[in-house]
Amino acid sequence: MKIDGTPYRSVWVDQQDGWSVRIFDQTRLPWALDIIRLTGVNEAAHAIRSMQVRGAPLIGAVAAYGLCLALRQDASTAAMERDAAMLAQTRPTAVNLRWAIDRMLTRLRNTATGERVRAAYEEAATIADEDAAMCESIGRHGVELIEQAASRTGRRVNVLTHCNAGWLATVDWGTALAPIYMAHERGLDVHVWVDETRPRNQGAALTAFELGKHGVAHTVIADNAGGHLMQRGKVDLVIVGTDRVTRTGDVANKIGTYLKALAAHDNAVPFWVAVPSSTIDWTVSDGVTEIPIEERSGNEVTTVTGRALDGSIATVRITPTSSPAANPAFDVTPARLVTGLVTERGRCAASAPGLLGLFPEQA
Ligand code: MRU
Repeated sequence: MKIDGTPYRSVWVDQQDGWSVRIFDQTRLPWALDIIRLTGVNEAAHAIRSMQVRGAPLIGAVAAYGLCLALRQDASTAAMERDAAMLAQTRPTAVNLRWAIDRMLTRLRNTATGERVRAAYEEAATIADEDAAMCESIGRHGVELIEQAASRTGRRVNVLTHCNAGWLATVDWGTALAPIYMAHERGLDVHVWVDETRPRNQGAALTAFELGKHGVAHTVIADNAGGHLMQRGKVDLVIVGTDRVTRTGDVANKIGTYLKALAAHDNAVPFWVAVPSSTIDWTVSDGVTEIPIEERSGNEVTTVTGRALDGSIATVRITPTSSPAANPAFDVTPARLVTGLVTERGRCAASAPGLLGLFPEQA
């Protein structure tokens, strides 16, 4: 996607040296467009942990490139297994991390030590290219939902989204935002309600940044506004991304997604989840009990970061210093609250038969 006319992906190999890895520091967006150069596996792990990169597909791709950087330092099997295990620990909920690392290891365990670095960069590039292609395809299958809503209502289509599942969260296009970008490109009148997404404000900071740069009409709302807007008929459909979908269609996503699904259900608003196959965990059936939910620092709740009036980026405390805070980073929306899934192979019900209909090889 483009920023001020320049095309970018959210991770790429430096063209000058041909090996270091470039990312945007997403903790600085939208106030500063800082591009970081990763030169070692520990820097890649730090980028994922500190959420300089975030979003399920992107952390998978960055972990894959992190393994490339690790192999440049030491391509032995022992070091590779150790570094892969370390990368896999960086964040627990998004299954794409494990998926990407497993895929790298499957290739690299069967590759001679001297050939590993070249093979690793090749595999990481394939993972990145495939992610971009999957997201584009999700866009093609998802835009039909917006087209249908437009012809049903005969007016502007209002889509509500939570967190950031745009191109900054993937390698390109995004998952939940891909249908919106395609609708915009096709000239459909689409408007997005952007949940701010406390505590880290990925909606207010990143989704709003992306949509603004792309010229898509949008309005940032407080997280608690969605139910009210649905009651007033101001939301035609909800589209969110996901960090892990079970084989039965339960959906883990950014904290607060479940409440949006409940409100959508109560108001008969379609609730769709955009999911590339790299985000489906075929080993898990019950999302509520089986998906690990990341607990992050309470500091993310007790503070907010923004741009001060003097232009500097500042973090301020918003709670009494003595008040403790809890910060579960994700929640699980049961499949019964999900209207359907949009995958790169098409749309389906959020259920085992629905998913297996599109991915019969997983039966
Ligand atoms: O904590 P984050 O910012 O990594 O959480 C991101 C989300 O919850 C996204 O909705 C999800 O990863 C899907 S990204 C296409």
